[in-house]
Amino acid sequence: MVAAPDDKGTMMGGMPLIIDGPWTREAREHAAADEAHQAFIRYFRRAMKIRNWTPWDDLHPEEMAKNGHLLSEDTITIIQAYLGVEDYVGDYVEDGLHLLNNSRERRNLQLAWGMEELKHAEAWELVLLQSGVRTAEELKEYRDRVGDHKWTMRENHPGLDTSLGVTCYAMLQERATYFNYDEMRKRIREEYGLPEKATPLERQRGTQIGAAGAFKTVATDEIAHHGIFLELVRIYMRYLPHETLDTMLKVFNGFTMPALHILPNASDLAAAMQRTLLHTPLKQGRQVNNPVLDSMGLKNKRALERAVQEAKMLPPGLGPEHVAFSRTGEFVLSMVSDPQLANGDPALAKSIPVEEMQAD
Ligand SMILES: [Fe+2]
Ligand SMILES: [Fe+2]
Repeated sequence: MVAAPDDKGTMMGGMPLIIDGPWTREAREHAAADEAHQAFIRYFRRAMKIRNWTPWDDLHPEEMAKNGHLLSEDTITIIQAYLGVEDYVGDYVEDGLHLLNNSRERRNLQLAWGMEELKHAEAWELVLLQSGVRTAEELKEYRDRVGDHKWTMRENHPGLDTSLGVTCYAMLQERATYFNYDEMRKRIREEYGLPEKATPLERQRGTQIGAAGAFKTVATDEIAHHGIFLELVRIYMRYLPHETLDTMLKVFNGFTMPALHILPNASDLAAAMQRTLLHTPLKQGRQVNNPVLDSMGLKNKRALERAVQEAKMLPPGLGPEHVAFSRTGEFVLSMVSDPQLANGDPALAKSIPVEEMQAD
């Protein structure tokens, strides 16, 4: 650990802090809840005013019907699995509400997030039905079988069934889901005989063709979800550094996507994933874990491990205005109160890949 008194201006620029301390546990939780509430308001506004699509009004079923025969069996198998995973939305929301019940801002986020997630299963049902690759009866039977199982954080991701665990897991899972859906969008475009990037016509009208357009729309939701959970983790990291970093490390060490193993036809899905290499451990590391660590201000997983060890030794009375960590996970302390020294500096928020990533 390096003490850097009076080293103002050389660290990350911080946001104005409303609470001066003393940094009791209660004060930390209160400050984190205040900032989480502000983050929720920003998220909710965008959800209501920008991501306000519905599966029945804003997708292109006629183009799905025209191009459905071009979709491969593996693509169809994987889209059906996405339908299954998204159809656990009720369980995700219910479980989260139990775990987050004592926090109003987190409860409200859980509800708003669930409202957006419910559209995704409906979108995948529409894609499969309109593409002519599944009948309404087949889809009903599949969704009924999905509903026969219950998903809980406790059983499926042991050790992460805490408020922080849910938040850190969601941050990573949403980014992985965004990656998966964007890869599937590219795969569908290839099967449709379209170039990887949107054509001038698609750009002009603002939506991509058929099922590719559906994946584009849903992926935009997913990256926004990643953005809000990332923002929350960064808030918690400022006020509860050791707990947050320690939970993040647990999530990074044992990450698996939700509900895959309880889906009907799980072995067909595993075989399709192996054949297509759509989502591999290497891709998870390079395209999901590493960018998320980078957004947190950490160089790599070793830096996260180091930050966990160092955070354990932080003097308990020091608030976020006294503490920051470097990209290698080394903590820097200032004995004077310095709002410039604030972990999770908002300047880093520039690297949060929200809707802007979806420019094409
Ligand atoms: Fe989703
Ligand atoms: Fe999501």
